[in-house]
Amino acid sequence: MYASSLVVGLLAALASLVGVSASANHHKSHTNYTVVPGVFLQDDPATNASAFNFTASNFGLINRDYPSDSSCPDRKHKTQWQRLAHYIKTLNSHAKRNERYSLLFMGRHGEGFHNAAESYFGTPAWNCYYSELDGNATVTWADAHLTEVGVNQALAANAFWKHLIKDEKITPPQTYYTSPLYRCLDTARLSFSGLDLPKRSPFIPTIKELFREGISAHTCDRRSDKSFIHASFPAYRFERGFSEHDPYWTALHAETSVDQDIRSKKVLDDVFSNDDSTYLSITSHSGEIASLLRVLGHRTFGLSTGAAIPVLVKISTLQGEGPTTTTQPYTSVSTCATAPTIRASTCNDCSCCE
Ligand SMILES: *[C@@H]1O[C@H](CO)[C@@H](O)[C@H](O)[C@H]1NC(C)=O
Ligand SMILES: *[C@@H]1O[C@H](CO)[C@@H](O)[C@H](O)[C@H]1NC(C)=O
Ligand SMILES: *[C@@H]1O[C@H](CO)[C@@H](O)[C@H](O)[C@H]1NC(C)=O
Ligand SMILES: *[C@@H]1O[C@H](CO)[C@@H](O)[C@H](O)[C@H]1NC(C)=O
Repeated sequence: MYASSLVVGLLAALASLVGVSASANHHKSHTNYTVVPGVFLQDDPATNASAFNFTASNFGLINRDYPSDSSCPDRKHKTQWQRLAHYIKTLNSHAKRNERYSLLFMGRHGEGFHNAAESYFGTPAWNCYYSELDGNATVTWADAHLTEVGVNQALAANAFWKHLIKDEKITPPQTYYTSPLYRCLDTARLSFSGLDLPKRSPFIPTIKELFREGISAHTCDRRSDKSFIHASFPAYRFERGFSEHDPYWTALHAETSVDQDIRSKKVLDDVFSNDDSTYLSITSHSGEIASLLRVLGHRTFGLSTGAAIPVLVKISTLQGEGPTTTTQPYTSVSTCATAPTIRASTCNDCSCCE
């Protein structure tokens, strides 16, 4: 028996709330993204994502020569990352006027209380009952904070960045972006604080609404108020127009993955039209990074909590309006009146309600 309600009348209003109408396109050009292959193992179809350890593999950077090596000063004493930086610089200096290349470092937040709760209750009970609550008597998972495991994952990423900067001479991010959800704000803080960063590119992230996780009925996807975020992370910047209250999350409704890809492209277009950095960091979520990877034309590559993936992207500005996309209304979500007792994740549509 389903305990949920289907509020049909709301759906049209929700669609306009989302406001990602790609048909309202007044520009005569559009942006297209492609991945530069052969640079990172993650992009190689032969790499097993579930067995991949980004810190044990130099972030997946493939040991190879680049066509630009012959012009790389003192190349014999340069690290792979230094030669990559020279390669990217060369790609950019030889790029056509409508093209540029950028290296994105996309990190998933460390384990949050919502991740731990899903493991504890099992996916059916989590999806159909507990995830719609703010928490239980001992734990809060609405806009979940990091567990101790999650904190340690972010600190491991921090140690890895220290190593990359000191020993591998990586070019660190020039600008930082993060999802507005607490687990990402905190992961970014722990991952990038205390690094030996260039003075001109300090760790001052910009919070962007649309780097948030796919909007589900789970309370872990409902963000906190802007004033609370500001009080918790006073050094962070907000993108222009960031509202006090979460304008998107709606009880018992979920964004479709089509809509998610539309807004993932929208946020990338926004970043690249306002930021001429070559090295960018994005701290986000498993579902959202999966969506960003689809928009970039990268193969599917699942990240465990606290993991990160680099992607070398070619950004092309093309003539014309680009493919038309149509935003769909949120879908309504069914729940169970009491928690299902089965643990197998075979009833994520909540057909397992008792
Ligand atoms: C990928 O790795 C996972 C985890 O180690 C393993 O269970 C799976 O069999 C591997 N898949 C392939 C195709 O090797
Ligand atoms: C990944 O490799 C590092 C060594 O670089 C190791 O310390 C860490 O435990 C490994 N992580 C996982 C999840 O196996
Ligand atoms: C609340 O949920 C957590 C799972 O994240 C569990 O460890 C804890 O025991 C639960 N508390 C109660 C009072 O059931
Ligand atoms: C745009 O990008 C996609 C995916 O990255 C690619 O398959 C496609 O060929 C590109 N389109 C154009 C017109 O370049």
